[in-house]
Amino acid sequence: MTAPLRAGDPIVVDVALGDRSYDIVIGRGQLASLGARVATLRPGAKLAIVSDENVATRHLDAAVAAVKASAPQVSTVVLPPGESTKSFTHLASLCDELISQRIERSDLVVALGGGVIGDLTGFAAAIVRRGLDYVQVPTSLLAQVDSSVGGKTAIDSPQGKNLIGAFHQPVLVIADTALLDTLPAREFRAGYAEVAKYGLLGDAAFFAWLEANWKDVFAGGPAREHAIATSCRAKAAIVARDERETGDRMLLNLGHTFGHALEADAGYSDRLLHGEAIAIGMALAFEFSARRGLLPTAEAERAVSHLATVGLPTRISDVPGGVSDIDRLMTLIAQDKKVARSKLTFILARGVGNAFIAKDVDAADVRAFLAEKLA
Ligand code: GLY
Repeated sequence: MTAPLRAGDPIVVDVALGDRSYDIVIGRGQLASLGARVATLRPGAKLAIVSDENVATRHLDAAVAAVKASAPQVSTVVLPPGESTKSFTHLASLCDELISQRIERSDLVVALGGGVIGDLTGFAAAIVRRGLDYVQVPTSLLAQVDSSVGGKTAIDSPQGKNLIGAFHQPVLVIADTALLDTLPAREFRAGYAEVAKYGLLGDAAFFAWLEANWKDVFAGGPAREHAIATSCRAKAAIVARDERETGDRMLLNLGHTFGHALEADAGYSDRLLHGEAIAIGMALAFEFSARRGLLPTAEAERAVSHLATVGLPTRISDVPGGVSDIDRLMTLIAQDKKVARSKLTFILARGVGNAFIAKDVDAADVRAFLAEKLA
């Protein structure tokens, strides 16, 4: 039996992948445990901590302080913030930097940041010296519940997000929930879309809990930890049974086909954050499912209503500055990497907590639905 948690104890979620299994350590103040955890995992490892300018200002000193007593060498790389950093240019300079810092296979790279830093650093770790181990220290809600877990690493191509990358699992994830206290409210809210996603896709009880407790999740404290841990458990279970996204892992793309198209249409700009695009995408996925008779309209409205209640956008018309025409949106949807042999694959729902993978969705149906939404 598990011993009762003491105050300050982290919640530890295991990502069960055989000899590549790792822990996700969740709790307030856990960044301070980085040195001890790394020293246990890789005694004597040199560390390179990669961050961006915004995160570095707030958290890099604390990260260095956490490891400097236990690591023989701690170097840092600070990159510009924003999606444009997920490029070949920054990948090349990060790889060169890790090589010139003499980070070897027995050493560790630490990604301290949100999804951009996690994805880029993970990809650099996947290819430098044919594979370095790395630790994720996610500093945004979105990264804590989604991008830091599961080993998807990538940079963007001019043709789309995350089109160049590798599966490369971290050896440890430390989600210090106190780091979220300094997140701008809009960014926290956008990350919450991915939390709600886990309820919507497979856990009706969690969704009902979020409907009742979302204000406490936003306020911090134990409800936030519970929401992050529940999200990470859901993701860990899916990744453990389908690491390479040949089946169930596609469920994590709920809202992403519509969402990625809207995000691309907005030029991956601050006009529409990733989580905001996913909120609209999930609302559209539930409405599209209702239109196909898969679930009652009231059930779709319940899903949409919760997203709107927390302040997330749920309609295409919520995109500031508007969107392009239907042809452009359909082109972007067709470019999404979940297209298999020209058929559209969507994650649809038979109810809250009951999403499924729908292959061979007719593009004409999607077009008619979107035309209605754009009217
Ligand atoms: N963000 C979706 C996945 O990790 O599969």
